[in-house]
Amino acid sequence: MSYKVAIDGPSGAGKSTLSRAVAKKLGFIYIDTGALYRAIGLYVYRNGIDADSEKAVASSLSDINIDIKFVDGTQRVFLNGGDVSDDIRIHAVSDYTSKVSAYPAVRAFLLDTQRRLAESDNVIMDGRDIGTVVLPDADVKIFLTASAEDRAERRYKELVEKGQNVDYDTVLHDVIERDDRDMNRAVAPLRAAADAVVADTTGFELEQSQRLLMDIIRERLQ
Ligand code: DC
Repeated sequence: MSYKVAIDGPSGAGKSTLSRAVAKKLGFIYIDTGALYRAIGLYVYRNGIDADSEKAVASSLSDINIDIKFVDGTQRVFLNGGDVSDDIRIHAVSDYTSKVSAYPAVRAFLLDTQRRLAESDNVIMDGRDIGTVVLPDADVKIFLTASAEDRAERRYKELVEKGQNVDYDTVLHDVIERDDRDMNRAVAPLRAAADAVVADTTGFELEQSQRLLMDIIRERLQ
């Protein structure tokens, strides 16, 4: 018997930081599905493929091989054999990824990979449609959210810490635009599963958010 915890929500809600921390506490494997989509976004970006053309992106999928490996318990993403775990975090790739992740062919391409990754162990998997599409039978489903301003501020700080040259207003604008695209796409739009617990962390420090998630998970896994 293995447990599946699905954590969905908009970008910048702290899903990956919190999921990683909570997985460590529980001894679960953390799987970041955004990294898989980002690897496709990176491929499209690097190869000058028109991200606005569904046809162009869909036909490039046959040239893409994505794999995840765990190195010292940390997830690394491989695109056609090369470790792209750092490159997928560049700001420009986020925009490409948001576009390509709206295409049904891309979502279908990654569905099996995600289910296979969730099979073996106790896992916490984060994404946008884990509770609704990828793992509809997950033992715990959490929809993690926070105000757009809070999320933009976290993302902004993260990017500045990485030495990237961005301004807050641009990041906020991008967050709102991406939310809109993620929530309004025809396939697997971002929404809370009917049986998900909504966790709103607006104004919360990391520790408070972590405690909230731990409480929700512990209560449901009893
Ligand atoms: O979580 P993230 O910011 O790394 O996700 C990057 C993009 O991928 C984001 O625009 C939403 C998309 N995504 C998705 O559509 N489905 C997932 N399961 C994970 C991410």
